[in-house]
Amino acid sequence: MTPMTEEATGAAISAGASKDIKKVGIVGCGLMGRGIAQVAAQTGYTVLTHEQDKKFFDNGIGAITKSLDKRVAKGKLDEDTKNKTLSNISFAASLSDFADCDFVIEAVTENIEVKKAIFKELDGVCKPSCIFASNTSSIPISDMAAVTNRRDKFVGTHFFNPVPVMKLVEIVRSIDTSDETVEIAMDFGKALGKKTVEAKDTPGFIVNVLLVPYLLDAVRQLENGLATAKEIDDAMVFGCGHPMGPLTLLDFVGLDTTLFIADIMFEEFKSVHYAAPPLLRRLVTAGYNGKKAGRGVYDYSAK
Ligand code: 3HC
Repeated sequence: MTPMTEEATGAAISAGASKDIKKVGIVGCGLMGRGIAQVAAQTGYTVLTHEQDKKFFDNGIGAITKSLDKRVAKGKLDEDTKNKTLSNISFAASLSDFADCDFVIEAVTENIEVKKAIFKELDGVCKPSCIFASNTSSIPISDMAAVTNRRDKFVGTHFFNPVPVMKLVEIVRSIDTSDETVEIAMDFGKALGKKTVEAKDTPGFIVNVLLVPYLLDAVRQLENGLATAKEIDDAMVFGCGHPMGPLTLLDFVGLDTTLFIADIMFEEFKSVHYAAPPLLRRLVTAGYNGKKAGRGVYDYSAK
């Protein structure tokens, strides 16, 4: 197999230890799962995606097709690569279909019990050499690895939204992850065209430990009446060159997701940095979870 990326336009990428990875299993076809599926399929991997209800897989494929169509329309992708990418992705009705996968990434909702149940089942069906990875942004990797008999082959692969655009993957090493597994995961991330950084298994890893307090502080500024949401966002876009202001980014990431991560980090570190401001909690209680909900800090219902 010759893994390729759109940018590489056919040039082989040095895949190092990840050269043995041919078949990638992805559990979950939501925003993150489908983004990872798109990038892996575009790189040339065979991708199996599991959703309990096929309609969620079909929605995911619809979004991937739309994303690829945009690239074609912009002249950044040819029709042939688009079709190859789509043909590399197929539906797995059951986790047992992952039996011969080389690398499985879980990208389901941030619920530890759901994740543990998935990994327990995968452990029973996947070949012993298969590496397990979780795309969690905050749940300890060790807690999930503990339900399997392959703790050394268990790693965190934290991708960023939108996955096709954001260049980073945090590779998270638990107490038991072997050097070989970290190396394979690092090489796999690089083969996908990503920059990889290694992080320890503490809530928030590297990015969210920095990003979440920043987002919470922006909500605190709004709550305290320091400035309007637009002014806070404009200040960071025009003053610091950020692609999005913090409150737009909060809507983009999801208020519920951010609150969930903040609460886990607060529970772990007991630091005011991670204490969610009441306004964030109220907005989440009201269901204003961000862009995906049509309303977060901003109202998207008219768009
Ligand atoms: N899929 C594929 N490509 C996409 C895309 C998507 N969903 N969204 C945007 N793009 C591409 C566009 O096609 C365009 O490509 P081009 O430059 O080659 O033509 C490029 O990205 C820029 O897009 P747009 O011109 O449409 O829009 P913007 O310039 O406003 O960029 C953005 C959109 C890339 C989302 C930019 O605003 C951005 O980088 N925002 C910050 C995102 C960020 O910080 N993400 C990390 C969140 S934290 C996280 O995920 C961790 C979690 O644990 C919380």
